[in-house]
Amino acid sequence: MSDFANDPRVTVLDHPMVQHKLSILRDARTSSMQFRALVRELAMFEAYEATRDLPLEDAVVQTPVATAFCKTISGKKLAVVPILRAGLGMVDGVLELVPAARVGHLGMYRNEETHKPVPYYAKLPEDIAERSVLVVDPMLATGGSAIAAVRYLREQGVAGTIKAMVLVAAPEGIEALLAADDDLRIYTCSVDDGLNEAAYIVPGLGDAGDRIFGTK
Ligand code: PRP
Ligand code: URA
Repeated sequence: MSDFANDPRVTVLDHPMVQHKLSILRDARTSSMQFRALVRELAMFEAYEATRDLPLEDAVVQTPVATAFCKTISGKKLAVVPILRAGLGMVDGVLELVPAARVGHLGMYRNEETHKPVPYYAKLPEDIAERSVLVVDPMLATGGSAIAAVRYLREQGVAGTIKAMVLVAAPEGIEALLAADDDLRIYTCSVDDGLNEAAYIVPGLGDAGDRIFGTK
């Protein structure tokens, strides 16, 4: 299996601050309150990386001193689409960087035996087909949930590159997701060792939804 180091579709955030925060996130002793704050912060760092290639256009700004020839973001508007529940924890971090983005929601949970996603909710901005989409979910395990999300977005007319922002990914999930669509980018803070028999990421960080919302 590839380590994705030379795959331009996969970006691993190796920044020291990101890696430090990820270590605390993984720690089983970290409280839900701290976990939520870290997910939000890491999502903001990741959004910074995922928006690095946004197109710019020239702008002329009058400063108090003189005319400045500047750049502003151009091109398609953005939509952030969290996969519920855990993806919700990343939304505010992305919005801190891109406050004007619209937010869509895709609800799905994994069946505990089959590990396949079960969809239960979808609400997207009306103009989703005209937007660039960032799908957010802290965990990319088998890839089933992210693949279902990308397929649904394509059915709704989303064109161009879909960016999947996760915090921890298993190699199996990355491979499956990249194979499922021709125009994807994946951003992650870590590519972990693999999956256990329950399809949990190893070493991972446990159940992200339960840790964010304190449900276990
Ligand atoms: C988790 C996680 C992803 C999915 C990843 O959600 O947040 O959505 O599992 O696994 P996959 O790559 O194998 O599909 P979960 O189903 O536990 O739901 P929750 O967010 O409501 O806790
Ligand atoms: N979902 C999680 O929350 N954690 C995993 O390790 C796998 C799926």
